[in-house]
Amino acid sequence: ITFYRKDYTAPNHRIKSTDLIFTLNPSRTKVESRLQFESWGETNPDNLPLELDGEDLELEKVLLNGKQLTSESYTQTASGLTIHNPGREGLLELTVYIQPDKNTRLEGLYVSNGNFFTQCEAQGFRRITYFPDRPDVLSQFTVTLIADKTTHPVSLSNGNLIEEKSLDDGLHQTRWEDPFPKPAYLFALVAGRFVCQEETIQKGDGKPALLQVWVEPGNLDKTDFAMQSLKKSIDWDRSRFGLDLDLDRFMIVATADFNMGAMENKGLNIFNTRFVFANPELATDVDFENVESVVGHEYFHNWTGNRVTCRDWFQLSLKEGLTVFRDQEFSADMMAEGLDVKQAESARAAKRIDDVKVLRAAQFPEDAGPMAHPIRPDSYQEINNFYTVTVYEKGAEVIRMQHTLLGETLFQRGMKIYFDRHDGQAVTCEDFVAAMETALQESHPELDLKQFRHWYAQAGTPEVFASWKQADDRLELTLKQSCRPTPGQATKPAFHIPVKLGFVDVASGNDMPLVLESNAAALHGDVLDFTQASETFVFTGLSKPVVPSLLRGFSAPVILHTAHNTEDLIFLAGHDNDPFNRWDACQKVYGKAIVDIYKSAGDTGSANTQAAVQVVGSLLQDAQLSDGFLALALQLPGEGTLLEAFEGLVDPVAMHFARTTLRDLLACTYAAEFNALYAERNLNGQPYEYNAIAASQRALKNVALSYLLAAGSEEELAIAQAQYAQANNMTDRMAALSNLVHTSAEKPAELADFFERFKLEPLVVDKWFMLQATIPASNENADTLQIIRDLLKHPAFTLKNPNRARSVLAAFAMQNPSVFHNHGGEGYALWADLVIELNTINPQVAARMARGLDRWTKLVPLLQDKARVQLERIFNTDKLSPDVREVIGKALDAA
Ligand code: ARG
Ligand code: ZN
Repeated sequence: ITFYRKDYTAPNHRIKSTDLIFTLNPSRTKVESRLQFESWGETNPDNLPLELDGEDLELEKVLLNGKQLTSESYTQTASGLTIHNPGREGLLELTVYIQPDKNTRLEGLYVSNGNFFTQCEAQGFRRITYFPDRPDVLSQFTVTLIADKTTHPVSLSNGNLIEEKSLDDGLHQTRWEDPFPKPAYLFALVAGRFVCQEETIQKGDGKPALLQVWVEPGNLDKTDFAMQSLKKSIDWDRSRFGLDLDLDRFMIVATADFNMGAMENKGLNIFNTRFVFANPELATDVDFENVESVVGHEYFHNWTGNRVTCRDWFQLSLKEGLTVFRDQEFSADMMAEGLDVKQAESARAAKRIDDVKVLRAAQFPEDAGPMAHPIRPDSYQEINNFYTVTVYEKGAEVIRMQHTLLGETLFQRGMKIYFDRHDGQAVTCEDFVAAMETALQESHPELDLKQFRHWYAQAGTPEVFASWKQADDRLELTLKQSCRPTPGQATKPAFHIPVKLGFVDVASGNDMPLVLESNAAALHGDVLDFTQASETFVFTGLSKPVVPSLLRGFSAPVILHTAHNTEDLIFLAGHDNDPFNRWDACQKVYGKAIVDIYKSAGDTGSANTQAAVQVVGSLLQDAQLSDGFLALALQLPGEGTLLEAFEGLVDPVAMHFARTTLRDLLACTYAAEFNALYAERNLNGQPYEYNAIAASQRALKNVALSYLLAAGSEEELAIAQAQYAQANNMTDRMAALSNLVHTSAEKPAELADFFERFKLEPLVVDKWFMLQATIPASNENADTLQIIRDLLKHPAFTLKNPNRARSVLAAFAMQNPSVFHNHGGEGYALWADLVIELNTINPQVAARMARGLDRWTKLVPLLQDKARVQLERIFNTDKLSPDVREVIGKALDAA
């Protein structure tokens, strides 16, 4: 079944209050509910049915206004319960039973390591009890939890704890009241054996709030950083957005079994342990960064998502795009904190570069593939398939563009208008843009966001083509835009693209003042409004030669093609005053070199390859660069990005070897420099601290290490071995180990050592699996497919735990192209086996993994044939879930 955005209708009834009683038992939990309902609209007819969603529920009792209903007064189906003629208002009482310990889907109420958890977004609540499981039905919840005192001594739900008492038969009970009406997807309960780290803070209004981070016993040594991150998030939202915590109690609970990253349930956020646990011995710098950002993300949802929520799931980006934008800004502000202006700019640019890398590696392919959709989709078969990089990350780019167009002050004014208008409501993306437009027009009545709204409606990554002529003191800049067809959208009107730009004086390296002669109203500061299919802008006052720097800071999520020649790119790589574009110029040079090597089957003599060598040489000599920037600028574009950017059908194995060839050339050319760099940045033995500066220093050292190992002599191997042995933190240990495993001649002894050391830490064991599943084809000494087959039989492997499943399957199918796309097709066959197996265990995670061949029509014919066989094999599997069916069906349709 396909659901369409245009089919939205308001519900018949609202549920004023919801009273739930859970008698928790792993194999058979009783759920009693009392729903106070009333007619949605004043003018609704009296006889509209009350529609409740429900799946896999055992219904015991239905009472309407205290009277047991006979079976002709309601209809029960596999997807819900309809009460006929309930009247305009009344009380519906239900009793159902569910089986949490059989729930391997991890949607609804499930058991993990003996403890109870819920995941209700998007439509998990209907697996707990019958309810209007749609985000526009907001209800005030009271929840009673009855559980065994010894096996489930801690029981939590949303809001405030209003009662706690002991019952007979070894049971105890807690009662929770959430003061804020909320949709069912924000409901949560947790019960089991937990310990917590807690702290009382003062809110903006001076009132106290209790913060808690709950984990299973034995993990309290991993919660400090999450608690710090939570406190920073609260402070930041208050100072930058003027939004304060609205609850007396805010809890985070970690579970090892979780489909996604985390969930913003009101006052009771539930997290994948991956985004809570952080201590230096077990977590890398990147893990620390992710914990801070996800803790922030979920906390920021409290306003953008919970106080104002979505009318329907097509509006998902309303909360996700906005909240990702907020968490990106939070991370950037945290990284820049305490630094001088120049360092702060560089730190913010590093964060921006990381985010754009994700966009190019994952979102651009999605936008070009069979699952392409606008950030506000028009249809879906399974909503869980639409928690995508498009809705999240491209959604955040669309918010960022509005921030660029309005500026911080007007953007914050728009946020205020948004909350004034919609606090407590379930609204649409249009409502958000309308609030921003009001803020814009208060100061600029002549401007609007009319054309800008296409970003919500049109899928596909726009391509922008830029060319220019400079003569006398004028520069004519011509921009053209187009966007390839995507499923259901053959042609698209032009986008409103904010192009941030500068003209860099070749002689001095300074930015020239921007004076726009034609169409002067299109320039706002250094941002140009580009709104036509083709437009020429004439700038004056440019008597000396300049090189244009376009789309600074990646001011719009587009693919930019410019008329820059190699010399221009080398100049920008050395002198662009915008650090993002400076990095991007390096990436362009490397990308061209790799494509030359790919096309010439390994030849390294091209001018672009020479340019890449020259760029790296200059970077290594530039004493002004921050460690963080240098670490990013020295890294070659990822394989996914290269494959997507390649024009024409592509062979991922050959692309891997082309990239490796450039890497090895750079490694050999600059062996001495990388050695020196490594030695200078090597802090081995010094105490570890996680902060932006120390992390950049480690990142740079470890980039140097990877080049050292690429050059590959015994001596360099010894450096990595020493780093592994002496490391006092996971960042250095992992970096050493992954270089050893991915390039070493034999199975390094360190691999076994690593498992022995950390076998009791599931998140580190995930790293151990992941490292091996990503050994590339260029390591001739490893048969990675065989290694993976063996890993699948390892006693520590299970498909039931999503993190563990991903540590092999996603690592292999999505992060190891040279093995996955091996010419024999065995990679695809193995992938298909696993997707089929996972489909029956956990459809949501299986559907994620099923995205592995999204871009199969971009592969060379030999590989397309092998891919099709496996796609068809999956599609024809018995009992294929709607989740996997949608993904594979769309992939096959793309042919
Ligand atoms: N709202 C959560 C977040 O972004 C993600 C929930 C994902 N759930 C799902 N069923 N796909 O933080
Ligand atoms: Zn979110």
